[in-house]
Amino acid sequence: MADLLASVEEKRRVFLEELKTAEEKASSPTGLPPVDVRALHVRWLGQKQGVVTELLAGLRTLSKEDKAPAGAAINRLKNDVEAALSSLEEKSLLFERLRKQQALAVDVTLPPRAPRVGRLHPLTVVRRRIESAFASLGYEVAEGPEVESDWLNFEALNFPPDHPARDAVDTFFVKGGGEGKDRLLLRTHTSPVQIRTMLAQKPPIRIVIPGRVYRKDDIDPRHSPVFHQMEGLTVDEGVTFANLKGTLAAFSRLLFTPETKIRFGPTFFPFVEPGVDVAVSCVFCSGTGAADGATCRPCSGSGWIEIMGAGMVHPNVLRNGGIDPEKYSGFAFGMGIDRIAFLLYGVPDLRLFFENDVRFLDRVWS
Ligand code: PHE
Repeated sequence: MADLLASVEEKRRVFLEELKTAEEKASSPTGLPPVDVRALHVRWLGQKQGVVTELLAGLRTLSKEDKAPAGAAINRLKNDVEAALSSLEEKSLLFERLRKQQALAVDVTLPPRAPRVGRLHPLTVVRRRIESAFASLGYEVAEGPEVESDWLNFEALNFPPDHPARDAVDTFFVKGGGEGKDRLLLRTHTSPVQIRTMLAQKPPIRIVIPGRVYRKDDIDPRHSPVFHQMEGLTVDEGVTFANLKGTLAAFSRLLFTPETKIRFGPTFFPFVEPGVDVAVSCVFCSGTGAADGATCRPCSGSGWIEIMGAGMVHPNVLRNGGIDPEKYSGFAFGMGIDRIAFLLYGVPDLRLFFENDVRFLDRVWS
């Protein structure tokens, strides 16, 4: 009988040890798998070979009077094991729930995500680069409205009402925007600011005019109904065609490379006489016309890329601006900022500038 009681106590000690290990496992990050709880059950309370069942079997060998206290001791162990295992099961499930919640919870110890910092739009960067090149040549920036009168956009710039040169730009007229000279439209170029400036200030005038312009063009990689221009105007006594060429040559060297050359070709704009198309030596092939042994695509192998229109301000335009063409002369030029951006950054498709895709805008433009 003493043997049996000692054995019950020994088993209790072993159980408590196993229980402790199982509880530690239940509260650990891995948790206690339900099969482990069931295995403990089978091992201690199993009907066939459970430890308690075997202890009870040992009662048979005892005398009648010894059976009662020994049986009571075994039953106490049995009840304690049952209670301990069911509370272990509950705890194990509770810890399991906590672990799941934790996995979903916010980890407040993580470092914060850096805020997204905005940057200048590539067209803004290019506009500023052009402006500062001209600033170094003594030019100031002037601006004007995007909704403009027919008179300032066309007539004052020497486009008579039915002149075919108007057809070169398909125009957005503003509904209810008046009749004839007074009708309103989205400006088709930044040139009306030439007239606005001449009416507002006396020569010497040296300005560049950045801004948005509108034409009824269909969207494709090289066209957009809205794009950006940089106009330029110089008016003073004794301004010559040589000054025009020198200014644009200096500008091209500042904006592109010191080796950049310019080439003039004759063309027509109603507001200048003579008028020229200005090309720069191709920035992609350095004017050679060849790239990687093949024809340079952007300049079609010519070695030249047209970047702007220019010319000597027409006397009618000076007169419309209130300036005496007998005393003063001037030159004007106009370029597409979007096109210059293509030359500086090789952006192959104009639409990228307007779609606001952050993957594109996030690049560093300088
Ligand atoms: N306004 C012209 C255009 O939009 C460009 C230009 C400006 C040409 C000034 C000559 C002088 O195409």
